[in-house]
Amino acid sequence: MFSSPIIPPVRKRSKAAEACVPRHEEVKFEDVRLYLVERKMGRSRRSFLTQLARSKGFVVEDVLSDVVTHVVSEDLHAPSLWKWLKECELKNLPSMHVLHISWFTDSMREGRPVAVESRHLIKETLPEASATPPPPKATVSQYACQRRTTTENNNKTLTDAFEVLADSYELNEMEGPCLAFRRAVSVLKSLPWAVKSLETAQDLPCLGEHSKAVMKEILQYGHSFEVEKTLSDERYQTLKLFTSVFGVGPKTADKWYRRGLRSFSEVLTDSSIQLNRMQQSGFLHYGDISRAVSKAEARALRSIIDEAVHVITPDAVLALTGGFRRGKEFGHDVDFIVTTPEPGEEETLLPKIMNRLTKQGILLFSDYQTSTFEMSKLPCHRFEAMDHFAKCFLILRLEASKVEGGLHLAEGDSRGWRAVRVDLVSPPMERYAFALLGWTGSRQFERDLRRFARMERRMLLDNHALYDKTKKEFLAATTEKDIFAHLGLEYIEPWQRNA
Ligand code: CTP
Ligand code: MN
Ligand code: MN
Repeated sequence: MFSSPIIPPVRKRSKAAEACVPRHEEVKFEDVRLYLVERKMGRSRRSFLTQLARSKGFVVEDVLSDVVTHVVSEDLHAPSLWKWLKECELKNLPSMHVLHISWFTDSMREGRPVAVESRHLIKETLPEASATPPPPKATVSQYACQRRTTTENNNKTLTDAFEVLADSYELNEMEGPCLAFRRAVSVLKSLPWAVKSLETAQDLPCLGEHSKAVMKEILQYGHSFEVEKTLSDERYQTLKLFTSVFGVGPKTADKWYRRGLRSFSEVLTDSSIQLNRMQQSGFLHYGDISRAVSKAEARALRSIIDEAVHVITPDAVLALTGGFRRGKEFGHDVDFIVTTPEPGEEETLLPKIMNRLTKQGILLFSDYQTSTFEMSKLPCHRFEAMDHFAKCFLILRLEASKVEGGLHLAEGDSRGWRAVRVDLVSPPMERYAFALLGWTGSRQFERDLRRFARMERRMLLDNHALYDKTKKEFLAATTEKDIFAHLGLEYIEPWQRNA
């Protein structure tokens, strides 16, 4: 029934097993017995660090007693820490090392207990405050539209981790923290260098306390406790799985989850669930459309659409937008803008194209939305509002023979065709520049263009127009460069908009 029943493996770990089964890791360092102070560190982080150390052959005591040799604390307030230690009535306290977490970090990195240096010690008397030099002035803009971000990402480990947390907040409808992590991701993606220490990240914008804490853990241990926990969370895993289906948004995914459904087969065999047309196609072609589309496949689709468009209107304009216009090697779909110089004609363009694709037998699914665009309804104050142009979301059948170098299929798949998601939008020609800018993305780049326009220029920008609130007038543009110029921004090439 389904073109490909392959379901991505869901990372699952048995939490119960982790919590109850005693650890049998090999002890490598008999003479060193650690105790991690829970205060300031927190219980869950303490148990994470305990597991980490044990996995590297360290002995970690659960209870603070005289057998302990190294006390490790994240609480740097020496007086309160020492007051507490003294209340524990330990005979051996004078011979114990009372250490800052940096000793632990260094030891984990080295895979052995490193020698205790004076910088590791939490002394009973406070060291004199050392004068820290003022941080140099930030040079990275807080706005993605003032940064140049190519597809080369020098901080992938960090951005992957942040994206997990952003997705998780998004699935839980917590917009604030979600946006904070998306902004942090975007800043890191723009850097021509890799962040190796917290100090070097100190002057970067958009990195809050939370993202810095996660960053610190990753730089120190290579893992983030919070990210690991999220990845193994059943709700997160299930919602990610469900929303990976075309037509299934966070709300539907959550509804299914709350009904106790955890897998595709449970959804598909639940008789009380009525899938809509989009979701049916989403499941039907799941294997294909959850697989990345290659550049060569995008080129082949361009030729197919181009031929269809020009049979209909010889003077039509077709442009590639979305991720492929930004130079990405792979995408989740292929996005095109199509329009014609004859005003009003663009409204009939998409149905005609779809008609032709149907006759060619390659239109597997279409969701067409007619234009609701009216210049008189502008400017639109809603921030993330969808645009009003005619558009369609398609699934097309792409033959291997049309693709240079063949299809991007799983190894062993020799069907000779695959299903691909394609988006088409058709604005009136005089709105072309705005639509092109809006559909080229990335999403974060667009968000920041709008935010910049609003906050810094008192202007409203969307996929339709640019409005100057001070002059109370619309600003005309025939190219993207015109729009950047109106905003007083340096022009950023499409391949530099991968924010
Ligand atoms: N877009 C939009 N209105 C829509 C759908 C998309 O303005 N109804 C814009 C998005 O803001 C984005 C661009 O179109 O900037 C492309 O969207 P999408 O295909 O989802 O993302 P890509 O950047 O192309 O990424 P991918 O390669 O994964 O497709
Ligand atoms: Mn796209
Ligand atoms: Mn798209």
